[in-house]
Amino acid sequence: MKVLIFETEEDAKRDAAGRLLRQIQLSPTSVLGLATGGTMEAVYAHLIQMTLHQSVSWSGVTTFNLDEYWGIPSDSPASYRTYMNAHLFDHVDITRSSTHVPASNGRDPRDAAQAYEDAISAVGGIDLQLLGIGKNGHIGFNEPTSSLSSTTRIKTLTDDTRRANRRYFDRLEDVPKYALTVGIGTILSSNECLIVGTGPEKAAAVKSMIEGPVSAVCPASALQMHRNVTVVIDEQAAQDLELMDYYQHVHPAGQEVEISDV
Ligand code: F6R
Repeated sequence: MKVLIFETEEDAKRDAAGRLLRQIQLSPTSVLGLATGGTMEAVYAHLIQMTLHQSVSWSGVTTFNLDEYWGIPSDSPASYRTYMNAHLFDHVDITRSSTHVPASNGRDPRDAAQAYEDAISAVGGIDLQLLGIGKNGHIGFNEPTSSLSSTTRIKTLTDDTRRANRRYFDRLEDVPKYALTVGIGTILSSNECLIVGTGPEKAAAVKSMIEGPVSAVCPASALQMHRNVTVVIDEQAAQDLELMDYYQHVHPAGQEVEISDV
């Protein structure tokens, strides 16, 4: 894992946005895996600003979101489809039919899950998978004890996750109990992963992800098995890391260092 520790939350989120933009600049027909949540709001705000400032076109980009609540209309104010439109898609020139979010309702979530996996395979897989990390170590809605080789499926959300996402709903009772989520195996099949975590409440999960054993108890720890992962965190999220000095030595202030510069 490449561990990049930034002094502030803003620096970390700006860096993550820059990495997404560079991916599109290098490969205008990129397939991006995208995430939602509080962390990504600022990442997307920076990304929109950079896109407009540098006149980058998203017209060739395809996206697949990680997850969606199950049992609400997809145009509900709290759906992840609504979130993505508001925080990203409405502001860039992406073709709306090239943006994919798992189904939020239907007759059979298993059919919806298989259709989503098929759609990802049909475009040749994800080039760059953006991820946030839950306080309990979840990625997507792969809650602790999820199979590390899982594919897209319906998952029961933990009470902690429902409480953390309560802010998007009027009442806790309104937060759906289920979600369709891309699996950990699907995430591990992507070409590259970029995971962003900031704030002290993510410190324990970040430590387990980077330095803990690979375990379904911390789904993000499965990323230790991926060959191309960049972890972008701030100092608060990094505060429990035992090898902090090493990470900061390798990437001072989160910067990339070319071996030829050493
Ligand atoms: C949502 C998702 C989740 C979030 C995670 C962190 O699409 O993938 O795994 O990234 O729950 O959420 P925030 O950023 O709100 O702390």
